[in-house]
Amino acid sequence: MSIQIFRGTRRAVAAVAFAFAIIAGANAQSAQPAAGNPLPDAEVSARADALIAKMTPEEKAGQITQYFNIAFIPGQSEGVQAEVAAGRAGSLLFVTDPAEIDRLQHIAVDKTRLKIPLLFAFDVIHGLRTIMPVPIAVAASWDPKVAEDGQRVAAAEARASGLHWTFAPMVDIARDPRWGRIVEGAGEDPYLGAAMAAAQVRGFQGDYLGSPGHLISGPKHFAGYGAALGGRDYDEVDLSDSELWNTYLPPFKAAIDAGAGNIMSAYMGLNGVPATGNRWLLTDVLRKEWGFKGFVVTDAGAAYDLLTHEFASSTTDAGVRALQAGIDMEMSPPFGAPSVYKMLPQSLAGGTITTAELDTAVRRVLVAKIRMGLFEKPYVDLKQAKRVLADPQHRVVSRAAAERTAVLLRNEGGLLPLDKNKIKSIAVIGPLADSARDTLGPWVFAHDLNETVTVLAGIKASAGSNVRVDYSPGVTMPARFHPTFFDTMPGSAAKRDEVDDASELPRAVAMAKASDMTVLVLGEAQNMIGELASRSSLDLPGRQQELLEAVIATGKPVVVLLMTARPLDLKNSKPGALMNIWYPGTKGGTAVANLLFGEVSPGGKLPYAWPRTIGQIPLPYAQLRSHQPKTAEERYQNELGSPLYPFGFGLSYSTFEFSNLKVERPMVAPGESVPVSVDVRNTGSRDADEVAQLYIHQRYGSSARPVRELKGFQRVTLKPGETRTIRFTLTPAELSYWTSAMHSWVQDETTFDVYVGNSSQAALTTTFEVGKSKR
Ligand code: NOJ
Repeated sequence: MSIQIFRGTRRAVAAVAFAFAIIAGANAQSAQPAAGNPLPDAEVSARADALIAKMTPEEKAGQITQYFNIAFIPGQSEGVQAEVAAGRAGSLLFVTDPAEIDRLQHIAVDKTRLKIPLLFAFDVIHGLRTIMPVPIAVAASWDPKVAEDGQRVAAAEARASGLHWTFAPMVDIARDPRWGRIVEGAGEDPYLGAAMAAAQVRGFQGDYLGSPGHLISGPKHFAGYGAALGGRDYDEVDLSDSELWNTYLPPFKAAIDAGAGNIMSAYMGLNGVPATGNRWLLTDVLRKEWGFKGFVVTDAGAAYDLLTHEFASSTTDAGVRALQAGIDMEMSPPFGAPSVYKMLPQSLAGGTITTAELDTAVRRVLVAKIRMGLFEKPYVDLKQAKRVLADPQHRVVSRAAAERTAVLLRNEGGLLPLDKNKIKSIAVIGPLADSARDTLGPWVFAHDLNETVTVLAGIKASAGSNVRVDYSPGVTMPARFHPTFFDTMPGSAAKRDEVDDASELPRAVAMAKASDMTVLVLGEAQNMIGELASRSSLDLPGRQQELLEAVIATGKPVVVLLMTARPLDLKNSKPGALMNIWYPGTKGGTAVANLLFGEVSPGGKLPYAWPRTIGQIPLPYAQLRSHQPKTAEERYQNELGSPLYPFGFGLSYSTFEFSNLKVERPMVAPGESVPVSVDVRNTGSRDADEVAQLYIHQRYGSSARPVRELKGFQRVTLKPGETRTIRFTLTPAELSYWTSAMHSWVQDETTFDVYVGNSSQAALTTTFEVGKSKR
């Protein structure tokens, strides 16, 4: 038997008290509502309505329009300023200079009739001045506190600079590493994704919307953007209902439950209906079912795209359909296409939209401004901005985060950690070894390269004067085949020295031969990942593979550090040690040196499966069992079916043992929770971290369920010989799922397997039953 939970009517087939807990479908761990807001709802609404009563249709349409203000695009800023001065702009994006924000805010407040301040928004994705490791790296820490702390620092710097709102976190599930935006999310898993989403929202927003020193957080891109066809950015998405509800939506639900004040709609079409004109998604799911109270913004130019998608008949129709689907604010197209919300007054006059529809959107935007305290404090304190941006403590947070994000993938014969007292010389080789800009990763625009520590600089500083450190870039990092707009932004592109591969590669190999060991820093340049940075290959760009093989062939010990945010295909090369360091941020080099020399032990785990070749994609661990499961490894006649490194995998400098897996109540009724415990013991000889991961498997029920699903994790630090008992609680929310058999959430009466260990291939297992009849 199963318990079916109707979402729309909130009625359960069997009247069970827990239905409301499950209805969300998201895991309970991440569902922590933000604490109360000091401004009472009634007061906020009354203030917003008083303003609305004074506004003309043009002012209303302007209030729900956001403009790019990119200083180096000729004419853009002038045009935007004219709109601001006329009271026809509600928000600006892409200004980060505190003095410029202050100047523009003065225009809005001093020059306009109603003196409504602007919301300043920006992509504060992983830091503003102090850059944290990229989001996928933070997910690899399997430590939501790393995410929360990092975004709290980012929020403090942004808010002090005059910004109010960040377009983050990106909570799109990504199961195709060709898709460049995999770098911005938490990888392939909805449970890990939900935990990281909620933690980031808490970090950005603080206890409530309007907390001092915090921002409005805008999770994006609603919804399904990560499943772009062929991994090609912006391409269409076709997802089954089951995938949508069970895999792609839970991180959004978790972010909303954590109090996110904003949501950004996605660019692409979802099952044939553009996400930005998708009333089912933006109104039925987001507002009616989930009770979202914040405001919805489009992605840049996505309302205009309703025309591009051949969905709307005209720009006027695009504005109407976006508004009526549930879009509150239009982020205007950045490069000259018109703002479709400019046509709303005309639509109002013609009767295709109502005053109530327009006012609803305006109210939501004004409410955000009131809650953020903009009317009381619109301007920027420039001295305070300077002080906060320079805070040394922020750099400490960045370094500590980078140390917790690295994933050790190979360590033959315990090559790592390196012993400074035994090694006399290190060759540091690779085009990314001394590139400050690449160390920071994509989506940063207000960073300071002078304070960025490269891997080479980190190793030099840490190795001390007894170790000789030589450096060669080895080979060129090739340019992108298609240039990107981001590289035209001041300070955004990496400046590269000319490297002549023909002479530099042999010089690097000679250097490796002449050194006790080599640290090779390879991977992708920061502009090869991110928006519009999909790749049709997982190979190392340029001649890095040749360099790798030549250095390994010297026979000297080789440590490869991969600077990447997608799995790469190293063609079966087997360096002594391999560590994924991601794009580790401002203090990345210091963190990497601390890891190499064993000041800290790596404890990160992969947030996605690492395929053997690109042909295996997609390869999520949470697959359904199918015909002839014993031959799962043989599904390709020319290659193994399993990944090279499984989801959740990562080595440590120590070793750990899991034992004593216990389910406290091996038989429960639907709606009851199942406490699970396990002992983890550090069996090695040094302090180190391990991540206990709990997976479930439902044996039968209304739908077939994946062979494994992550439903709990905990990262712990243990001393040598220390044992810790870790406790998990499997709640009804974690044991239910959305079934396409009944088009509803369900909890089946069934048997579950539980697996606990340090990867998705955990071996320790037990079972429990859910079923009233069995009690
Ligand atoms: C387009 C991107 O898809 C989105 O993530 C970003 O927030 C906006 N541009 C604004 O930069």
